[in-house]
Amino acid sequence: MTESKTVRNAGSRTETGSSFGRGKNSDSNQAGLMIEPRQHLLDLDDLSAAEITGLLNSAEGMLEIAGRDVRKSPALRGKTIITMFFENSTRTRVSFEQAGKILGADVINVTASASSTSKGESLLNTVKTLQAMQIDGLVVRHPHSGAPYFIAKHTDASVVNAGDGTHAHPTQALLDLFTARRHLGDLAGKKIAIVGDVLYSRVARSDIIAFQKMGAEVVISCPNTLLPDEWKPGSIHGDETGFGGLTVAKSVDEAVEDADVVMPLRIQQERQDAGHLPSLREYSNRWGINAARLSTARDGALLMHPGPMNEGVEVSSEVAHGAQSVVEEQVRNGVAVRMAVLYALCAPSRSSRNGGRNGG
Ligand code: CP
Repeated sequence: MTESKTVRNAGSRTETGSSFGRGKNSDSNQAGLMIEPRQHLLDLDDLSAAEITGLLNSAEGMLEIAGRDVRKSPALRGKTIITMFFENSTRTRVSFEQAGKILGADVINVTASASSTSKGESLLNTVKTLQAMQIDGLVVRHPHSGAPYFIAKHTDASVVNAGDGTHAHPTQALLDLFTARRHLGDLAGKKIAIVGDVLYSRVARSDIIAFQKMGAEVVISCPNTLLPDEWKPGSIHGDETGFGGLTVAKSVDEAVEDADVVMPLRIQQERQDAGHLPSLREYSNRWGINAARLSTARDGALLMHPGPMNEGVEVSSEVAHGAQSVVEEQVRNGVAVRMAVLYALCAPSRSSRNGGRNGG
């Protein structure tokens, strides 16, 4: 059993400057947000609570637009956004495409298998090629942690991290915050239980940072084999990592008890070759979120899951589709949140975003 403890360190931080990097020009983003113009969204670690709140408030307006019968806004008309996915995705890729199109942008999807990377072109040359086409936004999913930071150094376009390796998934965290806030109101003091494959989960890392920035108490629970070394007892921790204050529960039951949000994480079966789990059945019995476990959370607690779900493994089907589940709402909200992000990043002119730098 893992001792219940508060983490003061952690983080697989990758090379970075500003993760939601500021453009040099203070041109208004025209969204009425409480945020400065930014060029990129690579992680949430250097966004303030006010900036996150600004994005969430903007997403409320976007949700109204996305819910209209005729869902079209000219906000990003004339802008070109490329989604470049080097890893499979359903939710993130489709919702970014939908978000861009609702805002009037031209959205072009590139998959690794259909791009010249499959012929051996380097990531750098791929980015330089796209850069030459004067794109405004580049939404990137990549299996390697840090790849979006590398790309951001070599393009004038706004780069959005759509999930990089085990590092970060900032728009998933924003949509999780957005969904929780719509049900629970102010998230300060709320207990968020994150259960499962923390070791490989970029969603967990971004969610821990995001919920803690909003004042929530985040408690994680997982088998010792799926707990990152830097969060184990005896580590040296610092609040500046964004993980300070994180609690590692003694048991899944301790994590879920009185929680306002219960979030099982997908067991990433494709990354389990290292033998972290004796069997999925064992995992499901000991760590799976089922009706009995969920009943110990607060009345009206939300069952959230970033998807895709392994029903019967980390979450029972009964709970996944039960009255407390907001999983489909998370997906719906993801479009509005990504609209807010694309608008905040891509609405300003390219020259105002990058201070006239031609880069590349
Ligand atoms: N949550 C998430 O990132 O799902 P996809 O892999 O389907 O995009």
